[in-house]
Amino acid sequence: MSAPLIEVTEIGKTYGSVLALRDVSTIVRAGEVTCVLGDNGAGKSTLIKILAGVHQHDTGEFLVEGAPVRFGSPREALDRGIATVYQDLAVVPLMSVWRNFFLGSEPTTGWGPFRMLDRRRGRETTRSALAEMGIDLRDVEQPVGTLSGGERQCVAIARAVHFGAKVLILDEPTAALGVKQAGVVLRYVAQARDRGLGVVLITHNPHHAYPVGDRFLLLKRGRSLGCFDKADISIEELTRQMAGGAELAALEHELRAAAGDGAA
Ligand SMILES: Nc1ncnc2c1ncn2[C@@H]1O[C@H](COP(=O)(O)OP(=O)(O)OP(=O)(O)O)[C@@H](O)[C@H]1O
Ligand SMILES: [Mg+2]
Repeated sequence: MSAPLIEVTEIGKTYGSVLALRDVSTIVRAGEVTCVLGDNGAGKSTLIKILAGVHQHDTGEFLVEGAPVRFGSPREALDRGIATVYQDLAVVPLMSVWRNFFLGSEPTTGWGPFRMLDRRRGRETTRSALAEMGIDLRDVEQPVGTLSGGERQCVAIARAVHFGAKVLILDEPTAALGVKQAGVVLRYVAQARDRGLGVVLITHNPHHAYPVGDRFLLLKRGRSLGCFDKADISIEELTRQMAGGAELAALEHELRAAAGDGAA
């Protein structure tokens, strides 16, 4: 098998005196989805910021296609084909869908001082790239601000695919969405995977992760509880690990006791 797109081994990161990540290992392969699960403050965003070139790791090893890397900026990560979609998407709400699609890499026509924005090509390329992903937008001229949260995520995913990303990182793309919209976004995650991208999906919802995930990295307070292949963990076990099993049982007991007191 060829080298994974991304491989991190016992990676660690501290912010001043805060130990945000310690001894975390996982891999991302082409055509697979690696899910990163964990509660608030578990270190999920810290991990993907290292992969995306926003922060650098202090310890451990970070390999891209078999070679050690240390990105100085998000631009460097992007140049290696690692694209990241943040939850608070970097879109310009009043700008049209197609302008947002190109943001910074608009097609032009003409030459030198006569270069002009090629609107027609921009609109057509956006429409066909979205259609290829099965996204049917009535009007690519409409402002991005008029799209639903789920549609925006879908446009961002289509954009990364169109511009040739090898790795697509999604930080909680379904967190703010209703059940139906979350389902739509997960379908595009699966499509990006089927097109051969390696996807990193961050979520704290095991029910969003399990149907699309090939591998599950569980984080808790900056440490790894393990990285499991789908064959080695059931949805029940994943949910139990995430909920902190015993802690939840204790809470349930406590709440029931409190309700009992109230009735007496
Ligand atoms: N820039 C920073 N400076 C100092 N501490 C930070 C910084 N970023 C994160 N931390 C700390 O590192 C730990 C991990 O944070 P991180 O954002 O990676 O968690 P997370 O799993 O993404 O959580 P959430 O689900 O809330 O997004 C937390 O204790 C957080 O307070
Ligand atoms: Mg986070």
